[in-house]
Amino acid sequence: MWVQRLGRSLVGYAPRFFRPISTRIVGKTNIEVQEQTDSQPLIFPGVWLRDNCLCEDCFHVSSQSRKLDWDKFDTRVHPLKVRTDEKAQEAIVNWSDRHESRFPIKWLKERSFREEHQEEYLADLYRPPTRLWAGSQFKTISQHFDYGQVMDDDQVLEQWLQALAVYGVALIRGAPQDEGVVRRLAERVGFIRRTTYGEEFVVQAKPGAQNFAYLSLPLPLHTDLPYYEYKPSVNILHCLVQTESPGGSNLLVDAFYVADRLRREHTEDYERLCRIVVDWNDIGSEDGREFHNIWRAPVICLDAQGQYTRVNHSVPQRDSHFNVPFEEVQPWYESYAKFVQLSRSEAYAFKTRPGEVLTFNNIRLLHGRTGYDDTEQNSRYIVGAYLDWDIIYSRLRVLKKRRNQ
Ligand code: OGA
Ligand code: ZN
Ligand code: ZN
Repeated sequence: MWVQRLGRSLVGYAPRFFRPISTRIVGKTNIEVQEQTDSQPLIFPGVWLRDNCLCEDCFHVSSQSRKLDWDKFDTRVHPLKVRTDEKAQEAIVNWSDRHESRFPIKWLKERSFREEHQEEYLADLYRPPTRLWAGSQFKTISQHFDYGQVMDDDQVLEQWLQALAVYGVALIRGAPQDEGVVRRLAERVGFIRRTTYGEEFVVQAKPGAQNFAYLSLPLPLHTDLPYYEYKPSVNILHCLVQTESPGGSNLLVDAFYVADRLRREHTEDYERLCRIVVDWNDIGSEDGREFHNIWRAPVICLDAQGQYTRVNHSVPQRDSHFNVPFEEVQPWYESYAKFVQLSRSEAYAFKTRPGEVLTFNNIRLLHGRTGYDDTEQNSRYIVGAYLDWDIIYSRLRVLKKRRNQ
């Protein structure tokens, strides 16, 4: 049959295209894989390979999850024999627990333990490295995207989210003047992060405001919702009506940049703001439901590697309960005042126009608003919503993977 003949002839010629691979056991427990064309061999710990066996007893393909019985896992398992299937481009390992595993070479290379490979993987797929900016650099780092293109073109959606991840801010222009824009944008990425104030919220001067933002007074630099353990990650602020009066401008500052400056210029203040735990709170009621939120955390939060994870700052939402030793109070106030002064000096002010959507990282940037006149002829109307980083990074990875396929 024609099909069979073709199949056979392909098999006959195919070995010429197989890349030669050599594999061997090194140091009794590890496995070395070397493509002859590749000068540097890759070494994989045996215990990790056995843990990540891809056979159907150890791995569930459709959920892409490990199903190996870890209650019986022997961490001293070691390879007895390793060989290569060049046609399948796989390494085959026989283990001391009588199990056999097959690992595609491509799969192994993608999981290389070499430091530069791991760094590349983390920067490409985990989270893009951030670039911090001074207020004077705002114009060069802020990128604009067209609303229609963000909604229709996956490449532009990816560019918007990438800019947001790297710089912490991006502007979208040309949005229609309707209240559904923030929801449509959020749902293009994933879904809205709901808060005490609902899913979408309207920022306008309101009589009897339950939130300090809902006044026409200046709104000093702050992060939204520092009183949540799971602080919403990204603000989407859609300007529908902008005041013609002076004021109503947005202020933005990269607080990670400010933290860097503080660390270099006022190290003791920096350390104090990383160490002293502050109470952040919000008390009130919304739609007839009372709430009392508290979260205790420093102004500058760091992870185990000393990287910034979050900045908290809000004058209105800082609790009068301050549960720290008495002698820490005065020094903390001095340090906090330095941080606030530096932040103010690095802030960039600009006024969004109707149809513009300001999106920024609420974990990293501080934002504010200058005061404005609110009269019947002169009003300001902003619709906002939040997204979470888990959802944004997930969308970015899906878009990147699709593009690379
Ligand atoms: C807020 C806020 C910004 C603005 O409501 O928390 O920061 O432009 N608003 O009104
Ligand atoms: Zn297995
Ligand atoms: Zn705010």
